[in-house]
Amino acid sequence: MAKKILIATGGGDCPGLNAVIRGIVKSACAEGWQVFGCIESFNGLLKDTVEIIELNEKMVSGLHVKGGTIIKTTNKGGPFHFPVKQDDGSWVMEDRSELMKKRLDNLGIDAVINIGGDGSQAISLALGKIGINVIGVPKTIDNDLSSTDFTFGFQTAVQIATECFDKIVTTAESHNRVFIMEVMGRDAGWIALHTAIAGGADVCIIPEIPYDPQKIAEKIEKRYQNGMGFCNIVIAEGAKSLDGKVTGSAPTAVGDQHIKLGGVGDKLKQELTELGVEHDIRVTVLGHLQRGGTPVAYDRILATEFGVKAFELVKEGKYGNLVTYRHPNISYVPLEDALKKPHLVNPESDFLVHTARKIGMSLGD
Ligand code: F6P
Repeated sequence: MAKKILIATGGGDCPGLNAVIRGIVKSACAEGWQVFGCIESFNGLLKDTVEIIELNEKMVSGLHVKGGTIIKTTNKGGPFHFPVKQDDGSWVMEDRSELMKKRLDNLGIDAVINIGGDGSQAISLALGKIGINVIGVPKTIDNDLSSTDFTFGFQTAVQIATECFDKIVTTAESHNRVFIMEVMGRDAGWIALHTAIAGGADVCIIPEIPYDPQKIAEKIEKRYQNGMGFCNIVIAEGAKSLDGKVTGSAPTAVGDQHIKLGGVGDKLKQELTELGVEHDIRVTVLGHLQRGGTPVAYDRILATEFGVKAFELVKEGKYGNLVTYRHPNISYVPLEDALKKPHLVNPESDFLVHTARKIGMSLGD
């Protein structure tokens, strides 16, 4: 009988997810395995009615080009915190991990491949501990996982943000305006820093370097005094002013435990205005544009390699590991090690920070 793999995509979507799915399906089906997709992360196995679909080579043909994920994703629920509505309208989080295990057994699934970021991989680790055969594949546009040089989706996000920044530059220049462009990245400044260097920003604010609004105001004034007449700022959504606080709101969706970052660009505008900056300041928040659409070639390639490697680890029975990229190898690390610490910008040693400073970019400090 054919061996069976179940794939799930969890957390926020990310360009390249479909390319990973295609890499797994093509390589596994070629060796006679059957592959299934769990709809909306593991919730497809946890709901009262199971939602999984069989994936075959025909279904994944050309899929590497398509953004998003054909098997849907969510950052709500999961096997250990599954939201169940009570008769009085309230919600209770249920541990459905044993139910998941039972259903996997009933379906004859030999291995699970979980494609997701740190939250999803914490679930992979916990599933491994209850005896489920899991391989993790790292995914996030934020590039904040320490076990891999890059996650797929990151280069696409940077490309999109850079193209948007290029457009902002011409309108800022035409109107002599100050533009603040807010980008994603959660607690990591990678998207902001890469975009700022690629786009040639005047100021780049990242979460790893608390910013002083006064320093930014001075930089702006200097540019206007030097006759440049406009100023472009990239700010990461997780940036903190000297008060150390992030800007965002509590999650509203049931089962979602993540703070929704956003609004620090407006906060900076307010701070600059209060400091007496009189130039016209505009704020653009890129938001989910950075996660949408087709992956760039780099991400398609990395994602395909990750898919192929994930299947190889399943075949070799190397469960409890996360696929990684350490130049020049596609390799793997134990999930425990992969989750120990996030990969953040190091203001002291990262050459990108050094580069930014050397080309006169203000980092707000
Ligand atoms: O982790 C990826 C990411 O896009 C972050 O950069 C961002 O803070 C978050 O997800 C947004 O999540 P959601 O789509 O749930 O609002």
